[in-house]
Amino acid sequence: MERLFIFDTTLRDGEQVPGCQLNTVEKIQVARALEALGVDVIEAGFPISSPGDFNSVVAISKAVTWPVICALTRGVQKDIDVAAEALQYAKRKRIHTGIGTSEYHIKYKFNSTQDEILERAIAAVKYAKKYVEDVEFYCEDAGRTDNVYLAKVVEAVIKAGATVVNIPDTTGYCLPTEYGEKIKFLMENVKSIDKAILSTHCHNDLGMATANTIAGVMNGARQVEVTMNGIGERAGNTSLEEVAMILKCHKGLNIDTQINTQKIYSTSRLVSSLMNMPVQANKAIVGRNAFAHSSGIHQDGVLKNRESYEIMDPKDVGIDENAILLTARSGRAALKHRLSVLGVEVDNGKLDKIYEEFLKLADKKKDINDDDVLMLAGMERSEQRRIKLDYLQVTSGVGLKPVASVGLLIAGEKFEAAASGNGPVDAAINALKQIIKRKMTLQEFTIQAIDRGSDDVGKVHMQVEYDGSVYYGFGANTDIIAASVEAYIDAINKFVK
Ligand code: KIV
Ligand code: ZN
Repeated sequence: MERLFIFDTTLRDGEQVPGCQLNTVEKIQVARALEALGVDVIEAGFPISSPGDFNSVVAISKAVTWPVICALTRGVQKDIDVAAEALQYAKRKRIHTGIGTSEYHIKYKFNSTQDEILERAIAAVKYAKKYVEDVEFYCEDAGRTDNVYLAKVVEAVIKAGATVVNIPDTTGYCLPTEYGEKIKFLMENVKSIDKAILSTHCHNDLGMATANTIAGVMNGARQVEVTMNGIGERAGNTSLEEVAMILKCHKGLNIDTQINTQKIYSTSRLVSSLMNMPVQANKAIVGRNAFAHSSGIHQDGVLKNRESYEIMDPKDVGIDENAILLTARSGRAALKHRLSVLGVEVDNGKLDKIYEEFLKLADKKKDINDDDVLMLAGMERSEQRRIKLDYLQVTSGVGLKPVASVGLLIAGEKFEAAASGNGPVDAAINALKQIIKRKMTLQEFTIQAIDRGSDDVGKVHMQVEYDGSVYYGFGANTDIIAASVEAYIDAINKFVK
């Protein structure tokens, strides 16, 4: 079997999604889960873009041992200097530098020429080589770059010392045949191609990211750039779990990864929960319905012989249908074990707090599922927030004017207000606004479907506009009004310091 390297960019390209930003502690948690999953490279951030990104690359470099830690730069010296500094503690490190190579980038973004861009590409790689041996070069918008010019750039950067050359389909435009042919063209026309690895980096704007990535691999690429759950800007990036399972199912491709596929589901849940980014129910491999058969014909077939309708065993991705559900009778050890399976390691102090909340929830709903457990761990994380909901009382009903009383704790001090509104959530938000006197507007309000019974935990995502910026909030509660108020408070906490 030939080896394919998995380059995970959940913490860089994935984290660029508005509202999905993680703090450093959360990024370390994801990085450790990715290490346990078996990825080869973790792209930990774009250090020059913000102090937060810089610090995360430093912290992840210290926290993770086995995977290569990679930092992104533009093809300019200052970026490369800062990336090298951020990577100083990494056991194995890589600088990922590059420049746009399509006509769109050369003409309109840089107002430059092909020759000048070629020189800048070579200079960037040579400069990065002063700091690290492992330099990856990206040809941004390679998907729409003329193949002959692309081959010239790839040849030149390999000669300058690039160990990996990334061929991004930045806009998600290519057809699988087109992208596969591009990789084939480079494999056949770049003389020094044996001195470097070609990498795929496909965006999903037309829903072809995974197909393009596999076409790239079938034509010679030996690294794939992917994110957990396919998260990323716009329609996202190629999904790690899809590529890993395609290669596992299609043994005939003769290509293998180091991914421990049994950790896919827990890593997916962890990323989704930390980023407050729900996974669509019909998402391949990790969606709630991915292994659910509802039609009678399918169910009958699966019961007689699983393989009649299933190409993968759910256990292979870590979905254990027989996993013991947690209930009010479960002890701390069972909760700790479930958290650990889901990639959350807690000390005894934190476990005690989560367990306290767990017992309260278990009183309200019969079975506690993985999402609930992650939600409880998230509540513990948000304990340090400056503004907290102390109490909420709402009266509403047919023929009644909805009224809400809200109590907040702001840095430990109690504040109260009451207001009416055109619905219970509106009334509660009006009361909140009487305490937090800012001109803020609710822009988006999503309630995630409750589909495990009427006692299930409802999840609310909100976007609140304040002073020209948008802030994202998340709340989860068996009481959907309380979840909405919590989401609003979560957003407010991001701008009221
Ligand atoms: O999509 C893209 O082109 C990128 C590069 C910066 C690697 O993310
Ligand atoms: Zn990208």
